[in-house]
Amino acid sequence: MSVNVAIDRRGELKDMLRISDLNRGGLLTILDAAKRFKQAPMSKLGLLEGETVVLYFNKPSTRTRISFETAIARLGGVPLSVGPRELQLDRGESIEDTARVISAYARAFVIRTFSDDDVRRFAAHSSIPVINALTDRHHPCQVLGDLMTMQEIWGELRGRRLTYVGDGDNVANSLIEGCALLGVDITIATPEGYEPDIGVVKSAREIASTSGARIELMQDPIKAVQGADAVYTDVWLSMGVPDDERQKRMRDFAPFQVNASLMARAQPDAVFMHCLPAHRGEEVTDEVIDGPQSRVLPQAANRLPTEQALLWALITGALHE
Ligand code: CP
Ligand code: NVA
Repeated sequence: MSVNVAIDRRGELKDMLRISDLNRGGLLTILDAAKRFKQAPMSKLGLLEGETVVLYFNKPSTRTRISFETAIARLGGVPLSVGPRELQLDRGESIEDTARVISAYARAFVIRTFSDDDVRRFAAHSSIPVINALTDRHHPCQVLGDLMTMQEIWGELRGRRLTYVGDGDNVANSLIEGCALLGVDITIATPEGYEPDIGVVKSAREIASTSGARIELMQDPIKAVQGADAVYTDVWLSMGVPDDERQKRMRDFAPFQVNASLMARAQPDAVFMHCLPAHRGEEVTDEVIDGPQSRVLPQAANRLPTEQALLWALITGALHE
């Protein structure tokens, strides 16, 4: 079952605003293509020949922006990255007019901003594919790289268990949707008041009823990591969260730090995952992120082939309803 899916006239998925825009088959199509792009990065160099892709980043980025720019170059296109001060949006031009105009020039539009509603408005008024490169509620491109990394570690994902510890943020929401589609059991441990989006959990549970995934929410990090094949965390203060929440969050999240003693409660061969950037000494200790269980660098590296695959799939119309 898909949620808020933008389907074009031919029944093809036009945009990727959240993981659950995809069905299981579509998600596996992207992951399979990503494997091929990792083996042969220049294999579709003609796809974007003579074309531009616009990247609008209204929040900072290291991985997403550079991996997308590289992915576009490897598909033969030219990436045009613009910040908020470079578009007329900041001077009051509407999202709708901006979307229509960019559609007349570019082949796809990659957007990182705050509001999910804004990205939906861009998508609704663009005739080209729109990709969510992170919003306050979703980070689908991150989770494509994460699922590819998990496939490389385990092969089949069905029946594996991932525990996410910390803030129920955009990354947590997208992980819930990805795990639900692919049959990965997911446990989310957050302090009270920091749970993932209730609507995401509800719709993911509907998807999970088909895939067999179990989605559990709890407030005890020690109980949550027991039996986990992967322990995942993210920063305690995401971009856009007011800095005056810092002290309270540091106190609330302190028991949720992923350190060696928490990792020791997971499966002996469990891996540690983090989307990065990490705030070492807060949500994770050096010994864990730099230790033998850490897979954070493969996760970051897999952003590139998964984004190449996503662009290829949306542009060629490989994703069906
Ligand atoms: N993980 C991730 O999206 O990193 P950036 O914020 O650096 O793009
Ligand atoms: N949750 C983090 C993810 C950064 C990639 C944030 O939104 O800042």
